Parts: sequence; structure tokens; C-alpha cells
Amino acid sequence: MPRKIIIDTDPGQDDAVAILLALASPELEVLSLTAVAGNVPLALTQKNARIIVDLAGRQTPVYAGCDRPLTRPLVTAEHVHGKTGLDGIPLPDPTHPLQPQHAVDHIIDTLRAHPAGTITLCPLGPLTNIATAFTRAPDIVPKVAEIVLMGGGYFEGGNITPAAEFNIYVDPEAADIVFKSGAPLVVMPLDVTHKALTSRPWVEGMRALGTPVGQAVASWTDFFERFDTAKYGSEGAPLHDPCVIAYLLQPALFTGRHINVEIETGSELTLGMTVADWWHVTGREPNAMFMGGVDREGFYRLLTERLGRL
Ligand code: BDR
Ligand code: CA
Repeated sequence: MPRKIIIDTDPGQDDAVAILLALASPELEVLSLTAVAGNVPLALTQKNARIIVDLAGRQTPVYAGCDRPLTRPLVTAEHVHGKTGLDGIPLPDPTHPLQPQHAVDHIIDTLRAHPAGTITLCPLGPLTNIATAFTRAPDIVPKVAEIVLMGGGYFEGGNITPAAEFNIYVDPEAADIVFKSGAPLVVMPLDVTHKALTSRPWVEGMRALGTPVGQAVASWTDFFERFDTAKYGSEGAPLHDPCVIAYLLQPALFTGRHINVEIETGSELTLGMTVADWWHVTGREPNAMFMGGVDREGFYRLLTERLGRL
């Protein structure tokens, strides 16, 4: 039986690759995509989610959720993802419709309608939708099988401030709610994703697939690679969000520790930092499987094989 997942997302080129990887994988049943404001405003993230569903030739329902963080003004990342969020290749406007229901209501209804332990949440953006659902309907929290999310960073520091990673920084109050919720958490921080760097042969391999999906993935990578290579001085760019889906498919690709992780919501200097007790120095209860390593070759092998199916 495929594992049922809801992907909560703010596409974003790397979100797009993650969604395509999930849609290409028979081990996963993607119940829905729920859009949230993040990389670009909600009007664009929900539209981009529908463009990606069209590109994959699927009918996965798309819902629009929260258009701003719980208590703060929205911070976006057009400097990384471009004006549309999916810059790199021109794609047609979506034909796939937007569902009328709010994403938060959809998440609540879906968890209530399924037996406990059967739905995995995969947040790839700020945690606003998930935190709102948990606050409005605390009864759904124990029903969540697992939350596997991209966010945070510890040894690697931050990518939007020296201390904070973008997804957590945009809505630290939401992240705090999710990290304290008690739901089983698996975290893919920058410590992992900065090791999942694209390579030229991989990008050219995507292009050589000769499919619309291969062409899009290669063009997106070319687009954001320019930003990342300039910023980090690395060869290639990190494919952050696909790490979440790759973990669901092949958990052995990743290594980490079950530790306590708390979110900084007070200090202006370190707002949104994921304070990870990697060395178990606090005695605080572990609440998250915090990943640190990835088998890069295996990760890209998986991506190539799966994206080639679309
Ligand atoms: C995260 O922020 C976004 O820019 C990416 O889509 C990813 O989810 C990386 O910090
Ligand atoms: Ca994202």
C-alpha cells in the first residue's frame, strides 16, 4: 500500500523537483498539494503548484492556504527563485483548477477522515499552514504518522540570516508550534541539503531525458545554480526540498540523530534559529530526527531514475 502524503509547499524550483519526485514514485500517494506563502506570495505558489501538476500530467488536488505568517509580515525570496518563483523556463498558465476549500480546512478534514498514523505531512516551506491546522484542531496532531520537513540548519548556520534558514525564519512562531506539537518529526536542515549539490553531468543528464520534465528540471537548476554558486562558492546548487521526498523513498540515504530542537522566537539577532542539541548537553526531551548526512550519489541516482519516468 502506498504511503499517503500531503505536500505543503511554496514552489520554488526545488519544491517543484520534490513534487515531481513524489508524483513519479508509486510508493507514495500524494493526496494533495497545499500551498503556502513563502518563496513568493500565495497567489504565485498556488499557481506554481498547479503548473507542476500539469507538467507531470496528473490530477493531484491543489489547495491554497495561509497568505502570510502567523504574526509577522511575509518575507519572500525572489532573489533566489526569480519573480515567478519558477523562473528558468517559460511554462504555460495552469489548466489544473484550484480547489475551493482553504488548505488548512483540507488538512484538518483529511486527517480527521483517516485512521491515526496513516498520513504523513511533508512541509517544504514556512510552517504556517501546519501550525494553523494544529492550533485550530489539536485533535489531529496525534493522528499524524510523521512530519518530514525541510527547514533549519545547525552546523551549517543559516541562509537568510547568519543564524536562520529561510523556511523557519519566515514563520518562527509557526515552526515553534510544530516543533513543540509532539508529532514525530524528521528534519532535513541545511546541514544535509548543502551536501546534496547538483553536478554538471546530472543537470545535462536531466536535459538529455528529452522530456518536458527533464527540460524544466535542467533549466530550473541552471537558473538557481547561478545564485548559489555565487553565494557559497560551491560547484552546483543544493536541491533542498527533494531531500524530504527522497527520505520517504530511501531513508537509508540519510543519517542523523534523534535530538531536541527548539526554535528561537525572541532574539532579533538569531530569530528562527533551530537550536539543535546535537551533543545531548541539555537533558531536554528529543523531539526530532535531525539529519546531518546524505549519500549524494545515491540521492541523484534516485532522482534521475524517478524523474525519467514522467
Ligand atoms: C528552503 O527555502 C526555499 O528557498 C527553498 O524552497 C527551500 O524550501 C531552503 O532554505
Ligand atoms: Ca520550499
